[in-house]
Amino acid sequence: MRISIPVGEPEIDLDSVDLFDPGLYAHGDPHAIWHVLRQRAPVHRQTLADGRSFWSVTKYRDVNDVLRDHTRFTSSRGTLLSILGTDDPAGSKMMAASDPPVHTAMREPLMKVMSHRSLKERRPQVRRIVHRMLAPLLDGGVWDIGAAAADFPMAFTGALMGLPERDWPRLAKLTTMAIAPSDVEFREGSSHGTLVAAHHELFDYFSRHVRGHPGGDDDLIGFLIGMEADGRRLRHDEIVYNCYSLLLGANVTTPHAIASTVLALIEHPDEYRRLLADPALVPGAVDEGLRWSSPANHFMRYAVHDLVLQDVPIKQGDALVTWLGSANRDDEVFPDPYRFDITRRPNRHVAFGFGPHYCIGAPLAKIALNLLFEEITRVVGEFAVAGPVEHLESNFVAGIKHLPLTAVLRDGAAELLESAARDRLAAV
Ligand code: HEM
Repeated sequence: MRISIPVGEPEIDLDSVDLFDPGLYAHGDPHAIWHVLRQRAPVHRQTLADGRSFWSVTKYRDVNDVLRDHTRFTSSRGTLLSILGTDDPAGSKMMAASDPPVHTAMREPLMKVMSHRSLKERRPQVRRIVHRMLAPLLDGGVWDIGAAAADFPMAFTGALMGLPERDWPRLAKLTTMAIAPSDVEFREGSSHGTLVAAHHELFDYFSRHVRGHPGGDDDLIGFLIGMEADGRRLRHDEIVYNCYSLLLGANVTTPHAIASTVLALIEHPDEYRRLLADPALVPGAVDEGLRWSSPANHFMRYAVHDLVLQDVPIKQGDALVTWLGSANRDDEVFPDPYRFDITRRPNRHVAFGFGPHYCIGAPLAKIALNLLFEEITRVVGEFAVAGPVEHLESNFVAGIKHLPLTAVLRDGAAELLESAARDRLAAV
């Protein structure tokens, strides 16, 4: 998604804005629309041509209010705009599409394996993956970090879940098909057909994988098979849905945090120079990159009963869509919100959500992103964009598909990446 910096109050007819349209996020300017919505209609209703409708929630405090309170805003009917108006078959079976206490019973045991402490030992493995990803820079040509980043999460989530490496490329493609079915690069036939086919193949894959799994705590799927939620083991369909959700959660978001942060650093060379001068600024840069890019574009909830939000009456069963990228530009919370500032403090962005569903993969994503940017700063002295930047056509993921760039390498980069480069050549 293009990240623009709206000035003043852009002239936008709010009756004609279409935040549902995936094309808006590939070719349009959502930040300009959210900017106006926050000022003029922070809770705004959109009705689609087929009669379905949803409320767009764009202010930080309202987004937090909706995400925080499952007693008023339920996740159990589904949380993605793509299935607006159709109850999610995964409702109350998959952590992401359930409310407490069902949600808590599944989430608590999983939190232990997904905590920062238990993931710390994976750092050397992730660093190796990072070196392999950066090794093509040694060739000195144009390198597409958008395409390279797409395979990155599979390398750590695939390993964490114990999925065979030969399956990683197809799984990465399927998860993108599931969230961007109308994008020409991922569409196979019609968009609806692409979505159905991707879901079918992913669920079939996990169903077979889970049935053939020996159990045990060596990987995340074994853990899901053995874990108890509310005094009982998970059923087969619950395990499969949660595998799907964990893989999707990791694959479709992390690459775009990478590409968008690199693009922001190219567009703000002073910030990159500050990072080069002081690697201790990496965690702050990663957080600012997450705020800036907000790769998970929205999450949806349904109103449990009639209520009022920002003086707007909401009816029981109405859908509310929280736009995270908009909340992350709210000037009531972020002074000078359109400034990319790697030392922004505090930086209470909602890129990982808020409340009970706060991203369970956030510790893993942060480990991976911090390591990646630590290594990038050790290797790259300067970047430049070397071709057209292409954005993903999806209302769920704010993403960059292609970011071709060239890089001037720092002294010592070759030695650092040498063994990764040798492994790469051996694999060709
Ligand atoms: C930059 C990377 C990531 C971003 C921006 C991101 C964003 C989010 C957000 C906003 C939510 C809240 C959903 C809601 O409120 O309904 C969420 C939940 C979730 N994420 Fe992530 N995520 C990232 C990485 C990951 C990774 C690496 C994994 C898995 C290893 C993952 C798995 C999940 C799961 C399973 C949930 C549902 C949690 C629950 O319902 O309690 N995510 N993520």
